[in-house]
Amino acid sequence: MSNPKIRIAIAGLGTVGQGLIEIVQRNGELLTARTGHDFEIVAINARSKTKNREVDISSYEWMDDPIAMAKRDDIDVVVELIGGEDGVAKAFVEAALESGKHVVTANKALLAHYGNELATLAESKGKSLRYEAAVAGGIPIIKSLGEGFAGNAIKRISGIMNGTTNYMLTRMEGEKISYDAVFDAANQLGYLEADPSLDVGGIDAAHKLAILTALGFGQKLDFDNVNIEGIENVSLVDIERAAELGFRIKLVCSAEATPDGVYQSVAPALVPLDSPLGQCMGVLNMVVVEGDAIGKCVLQGPGAGRGATASAVIGDICDIARNLQMPVFGAAHDTLLTPKSDAIAKASPFYVRLQLDDQVGVLAQVAQAFAAESISIDELRQLDHEGDETPLILVTHATEPVKLHRALAAINKLDAVLSNPIAFRIEEN
Ligand code: HSE
Repeated sequence: MSNPKIRIAIAGLGTVGQGLIEIVQRNGELLTARTGHDFEIVAINARSKTKNREVDISSYEWMDDPIAMAKRDDIDVVVELIGGEDGVAKAFVEAALESGKHVVTANKALLAHYGNELATLAESKGKSLRYEAAVAGGIPIIKSLGEGFAGNAIKRISGIMNGTTNYMLTRMEGEKISYDAVFDAANQLGYLEADPSLDVGGIDAAHKLAILTALGFGQKLDFDNVNIEGIENVSLVDIERAAELGFRIKLVCSAEATPDGVYQSVAPALVPLDSPLGQCMGVLNMVVVEGDAIGKCVLQGPGAGRGATASAVIGDICDIARNLQMPVFGAAHDTLLTPKSDAIAKASPFYVRLQLDDQVGVLAQVAQAFAAESISIDELRQLDHEGDETPLILVTHATEPVKLHRALAAINKLDAVLSNPIAFRIEEN
């Protein structure tokens, strides 16, 4: 007796699409044993039919029109690997859901911007919209949050969710090279997104964080309220001073429950060298979930790449084949909480770097600006310098970010301040 089939259409045959086809071809028997279904790729679509590919696609029906493919009635699951926050990817997913298909996507930008609408559509049609590959590549964080941690009230989700910037910061530290040099290296390796500001500007990580926040905290997706700062202002001197203080600089994603709602941020932060985040190096990603029952749980793995991302996609298709269906963000979309937009970051210590003209009295003026905001200074170091420019490193005691920013704005107005102050939050564990 033959097995029931799970009939798949794939739009987008880049690295991940080819990785997915490879897994279906290589692990067909294993997939059948685990799901009771034969996996059949029925139709495929990409921008170019003739491009050289590392997998044999000759046995699959080629379709030039992805929307027509999404609407076919001999397909069970469509896989969206086109990318981009709207355009064809959005039209493709909408057409598939409208015509009653399950959808698997790796598209973090699409979900971050249109996740609420798409979840409503999927749930109104009784279909799955699955997106394990959209966040932290191969790490099964969507499954973990949606299923394994479903009984926990989540207190905080933090992590490193952009492999490219983690690679850049790791190399800056390890090889003592500048931001510009490591940016060029990442570019040559093809790590950077087509628009590099998505990576270095923290936007890609923010897309991922917003998705996890919705799922973890049971609220509607709220990308617009992620506070985003990229790594462009992290310099080698900061990385070296952080190391002297026992820290490493990472682009940290954080969604934390506060009395005023969930505070979401992506920003460079100093993390202890021996903490889980401090030990996550190179292109690896890490997600740390803190729940009221489990406590702290750390997941680490490859956040991008052919095999890792395709592994997440095929896991979603397996769940669909097994008929495991759950609401897109863990609870029916119309029951999700409305996010509060006035949450503020909790107080923390800060690392501050100032570039000062070496004038008499300048230190007193800086100290006065901090004192005016009741900010207590824990440590102060004046670095070796030649000439009249004095790099000054300060570590504050825990302070509310709003006070720190007021103090830095006042300092920035001083005649002796030569460039914009740099400030990064310090994570204490
Ligand atoms: N640009 C992303 C990263 C790719 O570097 O993590 C994976 O989402």
